[in-house]
Amino acid sequence: NIYQEEHRPQFHYSPQKNWMNDPNGMVYFDGEYHLFYQHDNYENVFGNMSWGHAISRDLIHWQEQPKAIVPDSDSLGMIFSGSAVVDKNNSAGFGANSLVAFYTSTSPKQQQSMAYSTDKGRTWTKYKENPVIKNEVGDQIPDDFRDPKVMWHKESQKWIMSLAVKDHVEFWSSKNLKEWTKESEFGQAIGSHDGVWECPDLFELPVDGNTNNKRWILLVSMNPGGPNGGSATQYFIGNFDGKYFTILQTGIRWVDYGTDNYAGVTYSNMENRAIAIGWMSNWQYAGKVPTQPWRGAYTFPRKLSLKTVDNIIFLTSAPVKELDKIVTNTRSMQNVDVKGSYDLPADIKSFKGKLLFQLASEQIEEYSIVLSNDRGEEVVVGFDKQANQYYIDRTKAGKTDFEKGFGKRHIAPRLTKDNHTDVTLLFDAASVELFADNGLTIMTDIFFVNKTLSKISIKSANGLNIKELNYSGIERIWK
Ligand code: FRU
Repeated sequence: NIYQEEHRPQFHYSPQKNWMNDPNGMVYFDGEYHLFYQHDNYENVFGNMSWGHAISRDLIHWQEQPKAIVPDSDSLGMIFSGSAVVDKNNSAGFGANSLVAFYTSTSPKQQQSMAYSTDKGRTWTKYKENPVIKNEVGDQIPDDFRDPKVMWHKESQKWIMSLAVKDHVEFWSSKNLKEWTKESEFGQAIGSHDGVWECPDLFELPVDGNTNNKRWILLVSMNPGGPNGGSATQYFIGNFDGKYFTILQTGIRWVDYGTDNYAGVTYSNMENRAIAIGWMSNWQYAGKVPTQPWRGAYTFPRKLSLKTVDNIIFLTSAPVKELDKIVTNTRSMQNVDVKGSYDLPADIKSFKGKLLFQLASEQIEEYSIVLSNDRGEEVVVGFDKQANQYYIDRTKAGKTDFEKGFGKRHIAPRLTKDNHTDVTLLFDAASVELFADNGLTIMTDIFFVNKTLSKISIKSANGLNIKELNYSGIERIWK
């Protein structure tokens, strides 16, 4: 009877118990998706950080594993965020195809350490010579020196590590994963600096699907300073030559405008897809959310792409296609005219709050989608035509008083002038993820209703013609 608690996500990953924040060391190897994560060893609050572990064969169903990396005898402190790679050619000497993880040790200052596994990620050994990148007391390096994300850079035949260093990202390189050389710094005067930079991720993607035209993307999480308050993740688009990252576009861009997608990075060792998972919470209130015996959940895995709109390249997100495996009972309707209010057929009750909802229209008009229960609690998602903004409003979405300012309406810009619009919503027991205009505008918000949301109404005062409307149940992933 696990995963039946109040507010427990039913198709998003969360640990059985205790506090969880960032996803770490996400690597695909031998048919398995590994998900490591910042996990408190003993408590339901941030504190004794180690790497928890879960494995999936399909990105949907997860099996929690014993703790992967824990603080112990090496006196280097806690195990903060980081990444993992498959060392195919044995560059580190731990054996061909060993998994090598990089994380931040916290004591006496933040430094980068390494661990490896030769049994498909089941057990991990810390490297004896840790830390591999030092930050000695008295060094000029700030104590915000963390979150190593390592990737193989084919062109320069080197491993590249991105590191978050307070107000910039540093790129370090290595031939053997053990000895690292600093190559460059990026970002001091670029992008948003209303908070500390964390959890960088550098990867390459084709523009508009054209593999002859690629760009490098740098994700940078930042706390606080997000577009709707608290922590959020911005991105930069540019070139990377093995030494320098240079941006090709200015302006501040957010991966997700909601309040609850943080520290997201992409899977390592995926051939053609960039798949990101983020922490579905916000440092502003993560320690107070009313769930037990666990705190924290992850976004549904998302496929990232690049799309050009009016000569600007944007990062887009979509739920991974594996979602289809758990989608059931799809109902489709065409040409639904909403004038005033339209209630979806009552059968959505049977979906028990786990819902996929999609609409497409050839009309850009204001509307809202209201999910409610008979206690007057509601989550409202909508489009404000005047302001040209999407929004999620959780003001009346059940428990909000654990944090002043939690019960709010959050906004996000519409980024295209296209006359066609579409919206996909993923509703779970305690979260909604909005993907608008083919993934151009993304919002993720958590909420804590006291009773399952069992009714959907679509509202539009001016009138909206929905060309195509689909809704489906989503199966619970826990057996
Ligand atoms: C981001 C972060 C990281 C750090 C980790 C600690 O949420 O602050 O920078 O490594 O969490 O748990």
